[in-house]
Amino acid sequence: MNSPPPEKPPLPVVPEGVDVSVPNVARMYDYLLGGKDNTLIDRACADEVVRQVPPVREIAWANRRFLGRAVRFLAGERRIRQFIDIGAGLPGQENVHEIAQRADPESRVVYVDHDPIVLAHARALLARDSRTVAVEGDVRKPADILADAEVRGLIDFAQPVALLLLAVLHFVTDAEHPHQVVATLLAALPPGSCLVISHLHRDPVLHPLVDCYEGATSPAVPRTTAEIAAFFDGLKLVEPGLVGLRRWRPDEWILASDPDVPILGGVAVKL
Ligand SMILES: C[S@@+](CC[C@H](N)C(=O)[O-])C[C@H]1O[C@@H](n2cnc3c(N)ncnc32)[C@H](O)[C@@H]1O
Repeated sequence: MNSPPPEKPPLPVVPEGVDVSVPNVARMYDYLLGGKDNTLIDRACADEVVRQVPPVREIAWANRRFLGRAVRFLAGERRIRQFIDIGAGLPGQENVHEIAQRADPESRVVYVDHDPIVLAHARALLARDSRTVAVEGDVRKPADILADAEVRGLIDFAQPVALLLLAVLHFVTDAEHPHQVVATLLAALPPGSCLVISHLHRDPVLHPLVDCYEGATSPAVPRTTAEIAAFFDGLKLVEPGLVGLRRWRPDEWILASDPDVPILGGVAVKL
């Protein structure tokens, strides 16, 4: 007798209200990093970016590796035990809570993103213990994030916090006041807290990327070094300051001969 056909795997769930006909910046980034959580339209748009800006995959990887080095530095040298990661993105390798909880299993991590698909994945794959939560929030509404019950339930705002804003502020337009956003978030954190930012640099090589992202869920806004440095106003940047990501405390993955990428990053301490 023939055995019954194998059961089909369930179709991926698309949360209500999600438009899969628009390239999505979280899923494009996932695709650029070799992930599987993306659709045809995300891949088509990302492939077009790669065609026009060949180093874009390297930019994505440089960003992800900077995230890892920065969190290891914060959890290790700075002994920070609380992290708020806004614009957290789809789960990948070496997520923030995995790095932080390796340094100290008691470390607490809040992942925040405004994308419902990111949230669904983060809740299923990242927020699997009582010290890790995933919260829906829009970085353009910092007061709402700070007032969120789950954020306040996990984070002790009397103790140093690491605020992670990686590859997200370049999705906030000038009209949406990104510097004010960062200032509002920082004002809620005590001295000893740290800010980590990575941000696309205004380099002519990225002009076609800006055009491609025009049709995506968020437009991309590369900024000048001075504009990115202004996010750290009033804080003390740790060495080596605001630099191309491959120059920030490089590890064994980075060769001295590797060209730098047009994305800047830094880590700073609130005094
Ligand atoms: C390029 S990914 C970066 C992911 C992660 N931070 C990293 O560096 O690996 C950008 C993320 O920011 C999120 N994002 C974009 N605009 C946002 C907003 N206004 N509020 C919250 N998240 C946002 C996207 O949904 C996406 O997950």
